Amino acid sequence: MLNPEIEKKIDELLSKMTLHEKLGQLNQQSNEHGMEAENREMLKNGEIGSFICNTGHFGPTDGNPAHNNRKYVNELQKIAVEESRLGIPVLYGKDVIHGHNVVFPIPLAMAAGFDPDLVRDAYTAISEEAANDGIRWSFSPMMDLSRDPRWGRCVEGYGEDPYLGSKMAAAAVEGFQGDDLSRRENLAACAKHYIGYGAMEGGRDYQKSELSDYALRNYYLPAFKSAVDAGLRTVMSSFNEISGEPTTSSHYLLTELLRDELGFDGFVVSDYNSVLQLKKQGVAETNADAARMSVSAGVDMDMADRCYLRNLEKEVAEGRLDESIVDEAVRRVLRVKFELGLFENPYVHYEEADIDAHKALALRAAEQGMVLLKNKNGALPLSESEPVGFTGDFLKETWRMFGAWTLDGVNEWANTLEEAVRKNFPEAKANFSHANNLIDRYDGVMESDTVVLALGGHPEGEASGLATLEIPEDQKALIKKARMSAKKLVGVFFYGRPMALGEVEPLFDAILWCWHSGTMTADAAANILYGKTNPSGRLPMSFPRVTGQIPIYYNCTPSCRNVDEYYPKEPFMYKNYRDTTGAPLYPFGHGLSYTAFEYSDVSFDKTELSPEEINGGKCFEVSVKVKNTGDRTGDEVVQCYIRDKVASMMRPLRQLEGFERITLAPGEEKTVTFRLGLGELGFYGKNGKFAAEKGDFTVFIGGSSYAPEVGKVTII
Ligand code: BGC
Repeated sequence: MLNPEIEKKIDELLSKMTLHEKLGQLNQQSNEHGMEAENREMLKNGEIGSFICNTGHFGPTDGNPAHNNRKYVNELQKIAVEESRLGIPVLYGKDVIHGHNVVFPIPLAMAAGFDPDLVRDAYTAISEEAANDGIRWSFSPMMDLSRDPRWGRCVEGYGEDPYLGSKMAAAAVEGFQGDDLSRRENLAACAKHYIGYGAMEGGRDYQKSELSDYALRNYYLPAFKSAVDAGLRTVMSSFNEISGEPTTSSHYLLTELLRDELGFDGFVVSDYNSVLQLKKQGVAETNADAARMSVSAGVDMDMADRCYLRNLEKEVAEGRLDESIVDEAVRRVLRVKFELGLFENPYVHYEEADIDAHKALALRAAEQGMVLLKNKNGALPLSESEPVGFTGDFLKETWRMFGAWTLDGVNEWANTLEEAVRKNFPEAKANFSHANNLIDRYDGVMESDTVVLALGGHPEGEASGLATLEIPEDQKALIKKARMSAKKLVGVFFYGRPMALGEVEPLFDAILWCWHSGTMTADAAANILYGKTNPSGRLPMSFPRVTGQIPIYYNCTPSCRNVDEYYPKEPFMYKNYRDTTGAPLYPFGHGLSYTAFEYSDVSFDKTELSPEEINGGKCFEVSVKVKNTGDRTGDEVVQCYIRDKVASMMRPLRQLEGFERITLAPGEEKTVTFRLGLGELGFYGKNGKFAAEKGDFTVFIGGSSYAPEVGKVTII
């Protein structure tokens, strides 16, 4: 709902603006070192609408990492407000992806927590810190669905599932934006990258995606839709093309789908240089063509390449572009600036953030996201009286555990795994080995019956694809050597993405997948290893056995033949591969606990509804009792999947349509109820319309995507 007062103010302002000043508002300027003098001049001329503060420290630092930008931000803002003709404040944007000074887990690890409330709280905390540095706009959350862990950027998103992704996306938007965008601590969120960027062929960054409208709408669009429904204020267009059309020049995607159909009324920013890149992509001949095509498609603000500022005046003057298109784009940008309260409060309003509370929240997020993949014979938790030899590349690591895009993270606030074990478990009989290479290190812990290997990889992210997801050879060699003598071998892995563990997994008694979980990674891992925290994370992406299984994802459609597919069933007639199975090593939703949960008493409030009832908002309610039958308190992520048995289009064998994280003390039980209505049972059909079709829907409830069938509901 647009605010009429704001719209009136925009009208007044627009009527005073020259075309050049309008284009200034659409120009997002980079602020790399060396550009300071030019930028000051351009601000005075009203040629900068926004800054991308994409260098680690935006301005000259005042020596305090938590305060680095304020002075500089205010100085530049003063020029915009006091020295430019119309005094329009500038908007500072930054990649505040999963933390600012306190770093939270990478988004994929946050998704593994299956806890939207925690995601919301995390982004509220993150926003407070970023706003203290003058940032009022984050280029986040990234909500690109990805079925391909070769793509380095899968770590920046919420994994392979549209339902989980939608819940996380909405929670992140709410956390960033709060109830009232004009409050000093709230940031405009930016849903990126719109759209289909996660479907990069072969996981190769900056390449093409090939998507049908059916796949786009049913898998890639839902997170964006849910973000728009949550009040999202900005969107970033993506680098990729979809089936021959770059998204940055797609009127269909940016205007017809995003605005006309989803009802988005904020503004769209291009990705870094993605306007200019239309030339590289071979759809624009000149810079002017690229600028005109993007703005006409619906990209309002031009990130970094100044293509709009330098070209669109001439395009309007020579009649190739209607000025009303520029006006509309400016209107959308000004709208968000007014909503942010920038006209009333352009300067940084600093209030000390409660860093200890943020660290505590980050610890909880890290703990909730870590996934216990394997735990043979209760190998974990470790006992403090048990002699344990720790070794591996990640014992002394902090920075690499933070994860991609941690531009302002404070390294000194993080413990190494060794420090975390020593500080949090001072009585633990832990021995840490520090030789120079992986194999030598192991020699120092050879005598321990229990060996913990802390292994991992560099932060993933942009342009960091991997063609091989098997772990490096030196890590494999260490694992094999350790297995020869250790009675109990535990793997603690710090990788941001799923890896192909098929070869080494059988060698471990237990595997804890820690991701890159930010400032508190090591503390969370230590707490889980020693049983202070009961693990409860669930996989937001399937783990392949070998790289060649990719793409492998749980919401696959049924095969036309009896094949050993994702959901292993015997007997089958055909194999997907001669050298491995069609099933993942670990399925979506998988994750173990130190306690056990029992599911019982599934009940349906009704099993039949008419199409009219479903369309009128009626739902099926499915309830299940979950009991903690073990001896320690734990969290279970109760998951509800459905299958539309017969439909006009092929539907997935399973699709997640509900989940709830619950905490149960030993012996305690709770009833969890899922509601299945139009949103859960419907899909976008061939005609692009969303509808629930008549027929049976199988319901599965349990602790992973391998959950058992519990009944069915029917639209009659
Ligand atoms: C990335 C975006 C990011 C932007 C600004 C681009 O290269 O694709 O995700 O927000 O740079 O840093």
